[in-house]
Amino acid sequence: MISRSTIDQVFETSRVEEVIGDFVQLKKAGSNFKGLSPFSDERTPSFMVSPVKQIWKDFSSGKGGNVVAFLMEHEHFTYPEAIKYLAKKYNIEIEETEQTSEQKEQADERESLYLVSEFANTYFQNILHKTDQGKSIGLSYFKERGFSEETIKKFNLGYSLNDWNAFTDEALKKAYKLEYLEKTGLTIVKENKQFDRFKGRIMFPIKSMSGRVLGFGGRILTNDKKAAKYLNSPESEIYHKSKILYGIFHAKQSIAKENNCYLVEGYTDVIQMHQKGIKNVVSSSGTALTSDQIRLINRLTKNITVLFDGDAAGIRASIRGIDLILEQGMNVRVCMFPDGEDPDSFAKQNTLEEVTLYLESNAKDFIQFKASLLFEDSKNDPIKKAETIRDIVNSISKIPDRIKREVYIQECSRIMDISEQVLFSTLAQISKKERQIANKEFIREKKTFEVIKHEKPGEKINVQYQLERKIIEILLLYGNKEEDFEDLILKEDEAGELILEPIINQAKVFEKIYLDLQEDEMEFSNPMFKNLYYTIVDTLNQNSELGLKNIINSVEPEVAHDITTILMEDERHNLHNWESKNIFPKNKIKGIAQLVTETILNLRCFLISKKIDELSLQTQEKLSNQHKEILDEVMSYKKLDNLLSRKLQKPL
Ligand code: CTP
Ligand code: MN
Repeated sequence: MISRSTIDQVFETSRVEEVIGDFVQLKKAGSNFKGLSPFSDERTPSFMVSPVKQIWKDFSSGKGGNVVAFLMEHEHFTYPEAIKYLAKKYNIEIEETEQTSEQKEQADERESLYLVSEFANTYFQNILHKTDQGKSIGLSYFKERGFSEETIKKFNLGYSLNDWNAFTDEALKKAYKLEYLEKTGLTIVKENKQFDRFKGRIMFPIKSMSGRVLGFGGRILTNDKKAAKYLNSPESEIYHKSKILYGIFHAKQSIAKENNCYLVEGYTDVIQMHQKGIKNVVSSSGTALTSDQIRLINRLTKNITVLFDGDAAGIRASIRGIDLILEQGMNVRVCMFPDGEDPDSFAKQNTLEEVTLYLESNAKDFIQFKASLLFEDSKNDPIKKAETIRDIVNSISKIPDRIKREVYIQECSRIMDISEQVLFSTLAQISKKERQIANKEFIREKKTFEVIKHEKPGEKINVQYQLERKIIEILLLYGNKEEDFEDLILKEDEAGELILEPIINQAKVFEKIYLDLQEDEMEFSNPMFKNLYYTIVDTLNQNSELGLKNIINSVEPEVAHDITTILMEDERHNLHNWESKNIFPKNKIKGIAQLVTETILNLRCFLISKKIDELSLQTQEKLSNQHKEILDEVMSYKKLDNLLSRKLQKPL
């Protein structure tokens, strides 16, 4: 683990404008910098960096955050990788915190496996380029397949001598331990005998997202029917086949930029397409796609295009796995190649323009594709047709977005010539079953007032989320301001009725918010906001000067992203230079005190009506012995709701 003090030092030293300046051409614009978004193709700059706040915001994609967030987005680094990158740039020595001996051993072991793999990677390349056998067998094979020198180097392709222990001997001579050679699978150890796993094969190193070598694929060059065409590294501490995609390191930038990822079957497909100029390509290397692999892509884009070889046989089997992609809310398209062709051969024989055109005109929406395929299979067979309906609706039911599901039902009804009603009721049946399962889990986890889970805005308008976010926004922007608040005190009059009595209080915005929320025992439902709320209130309480920069740097990257969005809202008006066009953005500060009171009241109203809903639900569930009590409670909440609504002057 990198020590806290190193992380702090990295943040203190780094200048966001300098770091981003290495990747994006920035121009001074007032107190900020602006430039063309590196996350989309645009002609007018909407990418903005604030040296004062040490944050950045890309208005075309909505992304933003601090310096680390930029490196994570742009370079797809993990958090520690980004810190290490900055430490290197600013010559900061990295101090590691003490680990337990067990942690250390494990980290040491992993590190050793990485080192052995890196050594092997260099070794196999040297053999390919510098030995007679490598050149005459390996290199000539790659050339024959149409790989250029540049491509061979870029993908670190190599060759393993046709000798039982050439590699192992060399590695041992270089003092690499047999234990690690065995654990990476590079060497097979059997009863005191050792031999090279990849003997006589051309080598494809498999790299992680950040470019470390995790394992290898090796292809045999002879026509030996008994030997497998490809051999892969076995599972190890560092190589988990189901969690990595071949080519992701070379493709990540392009996947994000093109906002699409092509998924192919093999190593050579990735390389050939890349060489042709289509770089957003990865492969699951001959195995069925897993959820973890999809998640890797999902970090970079929501769109995936699956490319199938021209042999139709495999297609029906492979489309099953695609439901997994739908489940993650991704948009899936599929594209078939002409008979007998795969992406490798097709890319080799055609120009970039031809390949691009082919992909664009032949990629079909997956659900539509599956519907037509199933329709073809079953049009003259009523029994099969029923099966088919279930099959397609099952796929549709995986799509998380309700509107999309409905559109697809309509589409499929047309394609398969089945009434929408039948499809909808099948969907309802499937969803009901799934809902029942989900419900059971939900009830188990359910705690009062934690009903609303962390959701991003835009996915669904969520009142509580919006109100909580608003409170954070107010704290960030005006937390330290002194204001006059007109407070309404809730009282009981002589008759025992609830009334509101106005009084004026002077207070700092954050104190007011804190006290009000505390009084009502209101908790944030969103864990991120809750955390942030306490951090901000704490900071303001301690040193009255809001150390915004410190807050941003001390929270999780996703949280930092949210803060940035809030803080950059006002900068945005700058960016568009609206004043010069005589457009004046609505003044946000119409009255801070009023804004604060309204927000808190709105949150109260919301929580009360939620409480009422919950209680009414309970009465419907006929918990009859408590019926009266609950009704009483509902009535008093209703009264409170009425009072508050009156204060907010909204229709009851
Ligand atoms: N594969 C494997 N083991 C095998 C066969 C295939 O791991 N015995 C994996 C490899 O990752 C391979 C992918 O499945 O890249 C696709 O298989 P295939 O289409 O047979 O290989 P190609 O990549 O087309 O290889 P080539 O063109 O070199 O024959
Ligand atoms: Mn092939």
